[in-house]
Amino acid sequence: MKILITGGAGFIGLNFINYTLKHHPGDEIICFDKLTYAADSTAVKRLADEKKITFVQGDIADAAAVGRLFCAEKFDAVVNFAAETHVDRSIKFPAEFVRSNVTGVQVLLDMCLKYGVLRFHQISTDEVYGSAAKMPFDESAALVPTSVYAASKAAADLIALSYFKTHNLEVTVERSSNNYGAYQHPEKLIPLAISRALGGQKIPLYGTGENRRCWLYITDHCRATDMLLRRGRAGEIYNISAESEKTNIEVVRAILAKLNMPDNLISFVKDRAGHDLQYTIDSSKIKNELNWRDETDFDSGLGQTVDWYLNNRARLHEITSSAQYKEYFKDIYGGELF
Ligand code: NAD
Ligand code: TYD
Repeated sequence: MKILITGGAGFIGLNFINYTLKHHPGDEIICFDKLTYAADSTAVKRLADEKKITFVQGDIADAAAVGRLFCAEKFDAVVNFAAETHVDRSIKFPAEFVRSNVTGVQVLLDMCLKYGVLRFHQISTDEVYGSAAKMPFDESAALVPTSVYAASKAAADLIALSYFKTHNLEVTVERSSNNYGAYQHPEKLIPLAISRALGGQKIPLYGTGENRRCWLYITDHCRATDMLLRRGRAGEIYNISAESEKTNIEVVRAILAKLNMPDNLISFVKDRAGHDLQYTIDSSKIKNELNWRDETDFDSGLGQTVDWYLNNRARLHEITSSAQYKEYFKDIYGGELF
């Protein structure tokens, strides 16, 4: 299969490329990525230099650039990871989220129609359902997104599914819970906590630290995406989550314990605006239809993640010591942590 992987230089995309190279060595992979601050350009360029993939730099919302790509290559499928992904940034800089997450998806879908690509898999998020109350949300739950990030992803889901209904494009949409593992940018909670702890710096926890997330280990996610790409039913949405709901303070304490660092590095800071309390989704559909299971318990996944960052300290340091990151950090957390 010849697969276009958009956003393949980011956290989940890079892991998915590596998963596909390992499990489907006969597949041909073309990665198209804008290389925003969140991308690991070194890792993706290394894969291209080793001739394992083809890499093209570009923006999915740039119809001319995407058109040239589709004209040059005949893809069997598109898997779209490309997006602006950080809730805190979406509060401050909403325009980029609408452009990449909504317009970008519409451009990709139109190019699929124009160039006869039959299969489109959209990577979405459980955040489109909004904060859960009691019952876990299944795929038919109402969409009640609370951030621009989540709202832009919800819009993209609906647009993608409309191409199935209107044009018979074989669209599937997956909505996964919070991921953790190698290559995640240290703006997100787990790598942020690891990087701050390694530097002996205060770790910011929003509000009381009691907000909850269900943590899905990256390899379990990649296996689910692979199954959905090959065997998911067109026109369907699939939730993906692991049985590992934790409060944020539990997560950070677990990281500190693994690094033998004291809990007093935790610093409670002003809460995120519109902070969703928890996301709880029901993944019975992918389990029943495709026999997918999450196989990595949180303790072992977190151990592997901490080890990866310890082995990649130079990269972590390169990101967190950059002027761009420092400016971002000040912008989001103000003077509270300095
Ligand atoms: P990420 O921020 O690490 O990477 C996103 C990648 O997309 C980057 O390489 C970036 O350069 C690229 N990109 C951004 N805008 C682009 C554009 N306009 N054109 C081309 N490339 C562009 O994100 P991630 O965590 O890997 O998330 C990937 C997908 O998974 C996203 O769609 C996200 O909504 C979804 N998701 C993420 C999580 C999570 O916990 N990380 C959970 C559920 C769903
Ligand atoms: P994050 O990793 O940004 O993912 P999301 O907001 O998409 O769930 O945040 C995970 C949780 O951690 C969320 O409840 C917000 C919280 N959080 C903090 O308490 N402090 C931080 O500095 C960050 C980045 C997140």
